[in-house]
Amino acid sequence: MIQWAAVGIGHMADLFVADAQHGQGGRFIAAYSRNKERADAFAQKHKLEHSHDDFDALLADDSIDAVYIASPHTAHVGQAIAALEAGKAVLVEKPVAVNAMEAERLYQTAERCGLFCQEALWTRFNPVYRTILEQARSGLLGRLCHSHSNFGFVAPADPAHRLNNPELAGGALLDMGLYPLLLPLDLFGEPDSIDGRVSIGSSGVDESADLVLSYPGGQRAVVSYSLRNVMPNQATISGMDGWVEMQSPWFAPNAARWQVGQGAVRWEQYELIGRGWHYEFTAANQAIARGDLFCKEHSQADSLRLMRLLDRIRTEFGPRYPFE
Ligand SMILES: NC(=O)c1ccc[n+]([C@@H]2O[C@H](COP(=O)([O-])OP(=O)(O)OC[C@H]3O[C@@H](n4cnc5c(N)ncnc54)[C@H](OP(=O)(O)O)[C@@H]3O)[C@@H](O)[C@H]2O)c1
Repeated sequence: MIQWAAVGIGHMADLFVADAQHGQGGRFIAAYSRNKERADAFAQKHKLEHSHDDFDALLADDSIDAVYIASPHTAHVGQAIAALEAGKAVLVEKPVAVNAMEAERLYQTAERCGLFCQEALWTRFNPVYRTILEQARSGLLGRLCHSHSNFGFVAPADPAHRLNNPELAGGALLDMGLYPLLLPLDLFGEPDSIDGRVSIGSSGVDESADLVLSYPGGQRAVVSYSLRNVMPNQATISGMDGWVEMQSPWFAPNAARWQVGQGAVRWEQYELIGRGWHYEFTAANQAIARGDLFCKEHSQADSLRLMRLLDRIRTEFGPRYPFE
């Protein structure tokens, strides 16, 4: 049984640690916050044995095998490298780093340490997403030629909130955009060209984007994301002979509409246990137990490919983070 500590115990860690109870092969035993009262409250809520407000003390605790990191994006690599150098395996929330260069630095450290280091991109571990992609690619829909994916919600207006703060790599791309960009990356690979508009807000973060990605084989992907307006959070894959529309939230779906040929539109309901984060937790536990350095569902090469696409969008449309 792999013993885990949670680091960066905000909104996401709360969801993840609760959902991990549906997973196998590991359990959370500790939490770290920069504030002892918050660490204690989190530990009490999730029935964890230990709570820390000293990161070095957490890393020195031999009962902890692995660390789950859900701090703001800018803290991921520093905390993950410190954990690796202390001999801990790491599972790092998406995006694993703020850019591809930082992600490479992290993966090189993990390789040097010979330890597991995994980006926690839950969609790639989701059995329903994987099944739908497999069916879509099987020829059922004919040659795949188009995708449409979006993700939007209204972020808190507070200018200090991490999503509005460029110093914390806030903005829509790294929190939301990464998901609708993942689908065409999975389907069509690297785009030849990217057209569109990205709106940069007064704080300097990207607030919303509408992009058209074009591929060497003639395929197109339409991608929208926003932290200033809600969106249906659906995704459609279209082929020459049909289409499938994954229902909200499509990046952790449990339902889809299919139309194959001229047939009737059919609803398909899928079983999804918990909220869906535990699938990557179980995969991480299995990989660590085997001595693997990452999970095959979302390799470090996959993670770097995604980071490079995010970098490319920022190079072409902005923004550049102040610390880069
Ligand atoms: N996979 C998913 O579905 C999903 C969903 C949402 C978010 N995420 C990812 O999870 C990460 C956290 O997002 P969130 O929404 O949970 O953020 P959040 O609610 O702001 O929580 C982040 C926590 O990190 C700590 N923290 C804040 N500033 C820090 C700093 N400068 N250095 C170190 N620690 C700091 C804080 O805890 P203490 O003050 O107690 O130390 C805070 O509660 C992001 O990278 C995001 O992309 C993933």
